[in-house]
Amino acid sequence: MPKTTCLKVPKKSGEQAISLVRELNLYDSSLKIQQIGDFLCIPLKSEPKTSALKRIESTLSEYTISSQTFSEQPKRHLVPQDFLANKLPPDLLANIPRAIDFVGEIAIVEITPELVEYKTAIGQAILNAHKSTKTVLAKSGAVGGVFRLRDFEVIAGENQTATVYKEYGCVYHVDVAKAYFSPRLSSEHNRVALAANDGETVVDLFAGVGPFVVPIAKMHKNVRVYGVDVNPDAVSLLKRNIAVNRVEKQVVPVLGDARQVVKERLFGEADRVIMNLPETAIDFVDVACQVLKPEGGVVHFYDFVKDSDPLETASVRLAKAVEKNERELSKVLLAKTVREVAPYTWQVVVDAKIQ
Ligand SMILES: C[S@@+](CC[C@H](N)C(=O)[O-])C[C@H]1O[C@@H](n2cnc3c(N)ncnc32)[C@H](O)[C@@H]1O
Repeated sequence: MPKTTCLKVPKKSGEQAISLVRELNLYDSSLKIQQIGDFLCIPLKSEPKTSALKRIESTLSEYTISSQTFSEQPKRHLVPQDFLANKLPPDLLANIPRAIDFVGEIAIVEITPELVEYKTAIGQAILNAHKSTKTVLAKSGAVGGVFRLRDFEVIAGENQTATVYKEYGCVYHVDVAKAYFSPRLSSEHNRVALAANDGETVVDLFAGVGPFVVPIAKMHKNVRVYGVDVNPDAVSLLKRNIAVNRVEKQVVPVLGDARQVVKERLFGEADRVIMNLPETAIDFVDVACQVLKPEGGVVHFYDFVKDSDPLETASVRLAKAVEKNERELSKVLLAKTVREVAPYTWQVVVDAKIQ
């Protein structure tokens, strides 16, 4: 235990004494303040010089200065802000992105316009704070297009957009610039995988690199799982992920437009359908109705809703679209918000029984 200078004050003037020694830059925050009876012992970095002593004398009515041993504070994990203190104006430090998406060796951040000129320093600070991160990418623009991709800019570290990511015991090769992937959906991937049952045929109409189909196959016996995607890069990563997770016998990767694929080879096959294409899933409810077995099954329907009652809105939207396709939504099994994607705009999931 380190020995250092101690400012001992009555407990009742503890708060005042701590803010004073902080102000005088004397407070040693790496050591723990001790309480002895009605007194607090505050660790100091060094003995106070004459001017500091004068301030202490004039502020505190009762105090003693001695030398004492203190126990150390547990080490705090350093955050990017710790590496930026002298590099950014203090008012901007508060705006440093706190929401960092970690995908394997890659960290993804959003750099707001006022921080653009500091982006390299911010990227470097993220690398310093997170030792297993090798690349920091800044989002440039929104997710868009049929493949649901966005552009990225490398702001620090290695020039790469491909990495390996682990989620709930599954391994994924991803390339965030070439195929959609979001670690923010990890609990949703797991939830849907848990909801599936042994023996089912499952069709993921918009499978991406496989974060629903792979865990379903890993968790359940005798399942037949089809992962459909129109993006060739997503399907080649999906094939790789099927192989590394050893689910080749259960998962069938299919490259193509979901509408066409269902029409040509999956009509009436599924017990369960996954529709994670929130922007336009509503336009594929007819496809979901076609791919389900004649006796029906379960649909996991994702939607973006800007509304005061997003769950009701999404459930009603789904029910109406199902009805138009001569099926019936017999029960909403679950409706919940997955995440807020913009102010008052929600990604919502509705799990429903369709007959
Ligand atoms: C939001 S991503 C979801 C991917 C994956 N389910 C996940 O959770 O990471 C939607 C995916 O649907 C694919 N997609 C878009 N339109 C499609 C279509 N008509 N048929 C098949 N796939 C489509 C995109 O390429 C993209 O990979």
